Amino acid sequence: MTVKLSLPKSSNMLSPDFIYGVATAAFQIEGGANKRLPCIWDTFCDTPQKVIDGSNGLIACDHFSLWQQDIELIDSLGVDAYRLSISWPRVITQSGDLNTEGVNFYLNILNALKKKNIKVFVTLYHWDLPQHIEDSGGWLNRDTAYKFRDYADLISQAFGDLVHSYATLNEPFCSSYLGYEIGIHAPGKIGQANGRKAAHHLLLAHGLAMQVLNKNSPNSQHGIVLNFTPCYPQSNAEADQAASRYADDYFNQWYIKPLFDGEYPEIINQISNENQPDIQPGDMEIIAHPLDFLGVNFYTRAIYKADNKLPYVQVAPPEPTTDIGWEIYPNALTTLLTSLNDKYTLPPIYITENGAAMADELIDGSIEDLDRIDYYQVHLNAVNDAIIKGVNVKGYFAWSLMDNFEWAEGYLKRFGIVHVNYNTQVRTIKASGYEYKRLISNR
Ligand code: FCB
Repeated sequence: MTVKLSLPKSSNMLSPDFIYGVATAAFQIEGGANKRLPCIWDTFCDTPQKVIDGSNGLIACDHFSLWQQDIELIDSLGVDAYRLSISWPRVITQSGDLNTEGVNFYLNILNALKKKNIKVFVTLYHWDLPQHIEDSGGWLNRDTAYKFRDYADLISQAFGDLVHSYATLNEPFCSSYLGYEIGIHAPGKIGQANGRKAAHHLLLAHGLAMQVLNKNSPNSQHGIVLNFTPCYPQSNAEADQAASRYADDYFNQWYIKPLFDGEYPEIINQISNENQPDIQPGDMEIIAHPLDFLGVNFYTRAIYKADNKLPYVQVAPPEPTTDIGWEIYPNALTTLLTSLNDKYTLPPIYITENGAAMADELIDGSIEDLDRIDYYQVHLNAVNDAIIKGVNVKGYFAWSLMDNFEWAEGYLKRFGIVHVNYNTQVRTIKASGYEYKRLISNR
């Protein structure tokens, strides 16, 4: 097992302008829930049987109180950048105005990071839709896209030039498919019509927000973060390959093709009339707004086979897997990056999330997570291979800075390079955190 992270001496990833960062999201770490409006994840957590350990985000890592020491921690890792998300329900009131107290919370963080010369990558929507907006239809209501634009407008004016990069959305696939189509994430709605509608309104929200971000913050970089789970056929049989292509179009290309080609994948025509999204004239042009960067989140791949009744069936992932059951298959990251690069005219790419849940053990005050170091090593190699093959990757963010609320898995799955004791809120840098630091500082 790898104990030391390293890259070949000639690697572009050792150049000082390759950005290394750590990532978090508001709902997963902040807590401080009584100082913001309720959001769909609060409601989802309160619904029995939705979150495995019955937990919620009311306190989480209490970053709301501990943000100063957390910034010291980030700084101690020597990273170039920190990717965080803004809690929409913390910074906007029910009537749609700015909530000054909430905005100040983030201004303090942004100013502290600036002092330390740490670049800030902001994500405007990492899944915590204000509940009152859900109550008027959430992402099924076209109007939510315009509400998101207005929020992006106000917040980017308030932050001035403190933000290096804005991503509009994190993983619209998860918001739409997991949240509105199969219901395993908030708000727990079900049905293909819901999923397809939500996906379109999310992408529209993204395009509308790009317009105001460019206007308010012309010197920062604007883009979006998509997750990709590359699809592989179970066998070479044509039927399995077709199933895998369909799944790829449905889960991956659905979200990227509109951004670069201004259209959904062909399979949209195979979806019944009543499940079609409501695409209005001009929408696809708004969605295809030019991007300064594309954020790519990668964790694993998925394998599919053909079926008599369904367009595809996913088969169980082979070993090795991480503690959350996701197969470790780094080669899919290289292939993903090169294939996206072949298919689309891409802007610079950041790997905005990559990391692993492992069954960490705190022994005598330390966590020797060699399995996680190994995961990072093989995925850093995979990124390096893609760069050698001509893909313009400019940075890499470890998911996550610290253990946190892992959505429907609650606090049971730990993704941090820093361990969090949820009783005491003590943070302990894991061996992977020290290795990440060493890799970065040795450049
Ligand atoms: C991604 C999410 C992130 C985290 C990781 C493990 O889908 O963006 O918040 O939960 O998975």
